[in-house]
Amino acid sequence: MAKAVKTIGVLTSGGDAPGMNAAIRAVVRTAIHEGLKVKGIMRGYAGLLQEEIVDMDSTSVSDIIHRGGTILYTARCMEFTTPEGQEQGAEICRKHGIDGIVVIGGDGSFRGAGKLAALGINTIGVPGTIDLDIACTEYTIGFDTAVNTAMEAIDKVRDTSTSHERCSIIEVMGRNAGYIALWCGFANGAEDILLPERYDGDEQALINRIIENRKRGKKHNIIINAEGIGHSTSMARRIEAATGIETRATILGHMQRGGTPTCKDRVYASIMGAKAAMLLAEGKSNRVVAYKNGDYVDYDIQEALSMKKDIAEDQYEIFKILVR
Ligand code: ADP
Ligand code: F6P
Repeated sequence: MAKAVKTIGVLTSGGDAPGMNAAIRAVVRTAIHEGLKVKGIMRGYAGLLQEEIVDMDSTSVSDIIHRGGTILYTARCMEFTTPEGQEQGAEICRKHGIDGIVVIGGDGSFRGAGKLAALGINTIGVPGTIDLDIACTEYTIGFDTAVNTAMEAIDKVRDTSTSHERCSIIEVMGRNAGYIALWCGFANGAEDILLPERYDGDEQALINRIIENRKRGKKHNIIINAEGIGHSTSMARRIEAATGIETRATILGHMQRGGTPTCKDRVYASIMGAKAAMLLAEGKSNRVVAYKNGDYVDYDIQEALSMKKDIAEDQYEIFKILVR
């Protein structure tokens, strides 16, 4: 039976995330299984505009499932946010015979994918970001590895923090979302979490809790501060001055984006990548793959982008019970 789509491209865009390679591998091998040709587009939309396009076969994705980062490289590309850039991108796809694209990335990358779809290139998004901040899906590729990396790092900071009886402000990534901070708050038994979705900026209340904890005999104070709040170094200085407790700031930074993907990231990435290639083979476009209520599903891109997500209030309340 003739397929609407004969050749597909795959790209990774925005911040890299562990598990992206597993997703690329799944896209390539599933597409080949479906009788499609596959091209790799290097460096996200920037590479598309530069025509950095390579043929891929099954062996192009050998020996990558266990590797962090993305073999296709990734980038952020301002030019692609303009109508001219998007039209040029669609034109380049047509020139290279690419009639469908799998875009592995976050919300921003999906906005770009929606634009390509409107210009006649079938597009499917796969959620890849450590931030877990895509509303339509309960899972994003890379979150599990990142949160485990952060958890292990925070355990180490806790050891030295206890030895010195210090307070530690540990900043984790997540852009404007507090999911990594919330999960580490639970997993590391932190004394406090500062989430962009919840923190009211009341530093005096935070200082009071630190003093109270010290009175109760706590040897350390581990405060996990989400990147969306930031300013950990100056916060540490103010807390030390107000409490008299030595306070250090640790910004975990990009270490959270690297490393060997966990089993969970490899498995979710494999299934999501395969589903994306299958959707293209079915002639579908303008969809994103998601994980919802135990199932892999797909949504219209604009519908997905209009959804809202928030930290679950009951989870935040439970965190507060467990630290007291
Ligand atoms: P993420 O995909 O992780 O959210 P970004 O927000 O940085 O990361 O977006 C990645 C890239 O997607 C941007 O550099 C840009 O090329 C493209 N992009 C973002 N927003 C749009 C938009 N509104 N229209 C077209 N392309 C976009
Ligand atoms: O989206 C992933 C992420 O690591 C965010 O947590 C962070 O805000 C951002 O990317 C950092 O981007 P960059 O690598 O460009 O500094």
